[in-house]
Parts: sequence; C-alpha cells; structure tokens
Amino acid sequence: MPFIPPRERLIVALDLPTHTQAKQLVELLGEEVSFYKIGLELFMAGDYFSLIDWLHAQGKKVFADLKFYDIPATVERAVRALSRTGVEFVTVHGDRAIMEAAAHGKGEGLKILAVTVLTSLDAQALKEMGYAEELTSLVQKRARLARQAGIDGVVASGLEAAAVRKAVGNELLIVTPGIRSDLDPLDDQKRTASLEQAFAASADYVVVGRPIRDAAEPKSAARAFQERIHRFFA
Ligand code: C5P
Repeated sequence: MPFIPPRERLIVALDLPTHTQAKQLVELLGEEVSFYKIGLELFMAGDYFSLIDWLHAQGKKVFADLKFYDIPATVERAVRALSRTGVEFVTVHGDRAIMEAAAHGKGEGLKILAVTVLTSLDAQALKEMGYAEELTSLVQKRARLARQAGIDGVVASGLEAAAVRKAVGNELLIVTPGIRSDLDPLDDQKRTASLEQAFAASADYVVVGRPIRDAAEPKSAARAFQERIHRFFA
C-alpha cells in the first residue's frame, strides 16, 4: 500500500449548497485541510467541474462523491468523463458488472471507491429494504466483490473497517465517514466511530463533514483532527 501523508488522511466533506459557501470554507480552513469531498449537494449547485478545477488550483485533492449507480455501460462512460477532470476519488454502488465497468472506465490517477453499506443505514433499515444478511457479513461480501472487480477501495464505517480489512487484506483502501465523538449532536449517521477507532480499525482515510462545517470555529476543529491524526500515526 503506498504511503499516505498523514495530513491527507483527513478528507473534509464540503456539504454546502453553493460554490461561494464551499469556497469560503476551503479558504477558512486554509493549510489545515488538503483533501475535500464534494458530493451531490454541490453537484446540484451546477458547474461542478469548475469547482473541481478551483479546488485543484488551490492545491487540494478532490473526492467526487457522486455514488454512481446505473447499468454498467452508463457508469463506465460517466467514470470516463469524470476522470478527465483529474479528481482523485469517485464513489460507485453496485454489483460486479457495474464495478468492473467503473474500473474499466477510469483513467490514470482516479481511484474508484465502492460504497459497501451507507453509514446512515442500520440493521433495521436493511431488513426493511429486503436484505436478510447480517450487516458485517454484507459489508465484507461487498468488499470482496469490489476487490475482485478491480476496484481501488471501499467506503465503510469505522465499525466494519476491521472486518473489511480481514476480508480483503491490504489491497483495498478503506475510507471511513460517520466520524463522531460522544459530544457531537445526534443526526442521520447511525454506525459512527471516533477518528481513533476508525484508524485503529485500519481505515486509511476518514471523511468528516458536520463536525468541522458546523463547529463554532471550523479551522480549530480541523486543526484538532489533524493533531489527533498526527498523534495516532506518530
Ligand atoms: O457530516 P458527516 O461527517 O456525517 O459527513 C459524512 C459525509 O460522508 C457526507 O457527505 C456523506 O454523504 C458521506 N458518506 C457517508 N456514508 C457513506 C458514504 C458517504 O456518510 N457510506
């Protein structure tokens, strides 16, 4: 597994409605953050590619969290188009054929991450959706399928990251959202873990949104996360 600079292990989710607000947060966080995730909310703000260009011009890495899920041919073409922008990560859902198509469509430098089971879903929600399988084994099964399909990594909660590592070894990157401490307000995330729990469970990157975006002082909050990462990997 290639070396990951500790500062890049923190990916901040820019979940904001406009480019202006997203850019303000990036400027406020400054050198504290070098990797940003832009997802569906900013996609709906329009001109998504120009925001990617702007982030790259600021020297930032970009995770396009668009969660592609469609027939294989469509996903392949979408991934191919996105890879021309030079983004570092993109997410896909899907079965073997969809993931193989995504792996086929990616250009150099783009890493495809497969979503295992959204961190906002719990066992009850999965049951309601018709999944009979136990959550951890479902996550492991999807991670194995992703590896077989030539995918670079998976998105998995801190509660399942260790099980994913056990299932797929060191070949896949593990990116973990749903990072919370006991002090954070309750929200839609169900399967949460602290930053230390996520890295101890062998996550490679953590994604943090609201705990930084909604902090009274976002820059101090980001700095505190970076200090914890530094201590963890020291
Ligand atoms: O605000 P919060 O820290 O919960 O942000 C987590 C981010 O990670 C959100 O942008 C969410 O869309 C994303 N995400 C997630 N669970 C996944 C995949 C992505 O929470 N399985």
